[in-house]
Amino acid sequence: MPSAKYTDLVEKLPASVPFVGPEAQERTRGGEFAARLGANENVFGPSPKAIKAMSDAASGVWMYGDPESHDLRHALAQHHGIPTENIMIGEGIDALLGYLVRMFITQGDKVVTSAGAYPTFNYHVDGFGGDLVKIPYHNDHEDLPALLAKAKEVGAKLVYFANPDNPMGTTSKGTDIEAALDDIPDGCLLILDEAYVEFAPFDACPNIPIEQENVIRMRTFSKAYGMAGARVGYAMAEADLITGFNKIRNHFGMCRISQAGALAALADTDYLNQTIENIDQARIRIAEIAKNHGLNSLPSATNFVAIDCGEDGDFARAVLTEVVAAGVFVRMPFVAPQDRCIRISCGRPQDLDIFEKAFGPALALARRKRA
Ligand SMILES: Cc1ncc(COP(=O)(O)O)c(C=O)c1O
Repeated sequence: MPSAKYTDLVEKLPASVPFVGPEAQERTRGGEFAARLGANENVFGPSPKAIKAMSDAASGVWMYGDPESHDLRHALAQHHGIPTENIMIGEGIDALLGYLVRMFITQGDKVVTSAGAYPTFNYHVDGFGGDLVKIPYHNDHEDLPALLAKAKEVGAKLVYFANPDNPMGTTSKGTDIEAALDDIPDGCLLILDEAYVEFAPFDACPNIPIEQENVIRMRTFSKAYGMAGARVGYAMAEADLITGFNKIRNHFGMCRISQAGALAALADTDYLNQTIENIDQARIRIAEIAKNHGLNSLPSATNFVAIDCGEDGDFARAVLTEVVAAGVFVRMPFVAPQDRCIRISCGRPQDLDIFEKAFGPALALARRKRA
């Protein structure tokens, strides 16, 4: 027990982590995974230009990073055709979500999300005492109209909506999102998490004026740019809201090596396009592996594919356990009926070979146990 007393809120929170990392699992198993396909990391890695920029920046790591992330913000502003004051850089979307929740949520405030959606957001809401209200998925999609209707009903201050979604990889049309914006209730902010948007069809991206006061968009270098370990994300919103982050953020949270890497990655469009092509191929391959085993997979707009194991959550968990036991790190949705699936990140061909080899026997074992 610490000598100082926890706040009442922290006292009541269960000791929990949203995810048990693959490293922790490796320590438990006593060996490394043969393939790492569970955290939607981009196994194809960052642009060689980003790697060079990070190597070049390494000797300067005795210096703190620029607390304003000036160069990266300017480059992003140019990239998106919006003013710099509409962009905030942070230590991944995860940290930005935490800052955002800290800005808006105090004990008892209502927050609406989908049951089984990205759990790190929920973790932040719990940590500030917010009251999470959850809406079921509709046909494996996060249901924006239902989320907004619930927000109105309960007087929510925040609504979380990921497009494309994790863990199912599904997407809504940008025009449908645009049409729903009028239904954001007064006093409520819509968080549009677009961590995977670079992998999605163009029509998944809504056109939302940057001055719109009730929407904030989140993007990341962790997925399409292959830099999850560098922890670089950014938020785009109207300028006042962006300024709000400065009241509470960790001003020296950004590592200068990561800032340099992100800047170089953003400039390397050819590499980004190659990555998107690689991911496309991997999605096709995962779908084929599923099909070869008589299973369906969900069409994905992300760098992972949900394979429907064809039965209930217990069965999918049994399949997952066997795949993991065979040395392949994968994860699955937490909530029914989505938990009938296991979720496979888009690996390189050699990673997917390893998965394929493990998957058939895992399915057979799970079926035998169930029979
Ligand atoms: C929907 C979603 N948002 C955000 C993140 C995390 O992004 P970052 O690495 O920028 O914190 C993830 C990571 O898996 C995710 O699936």
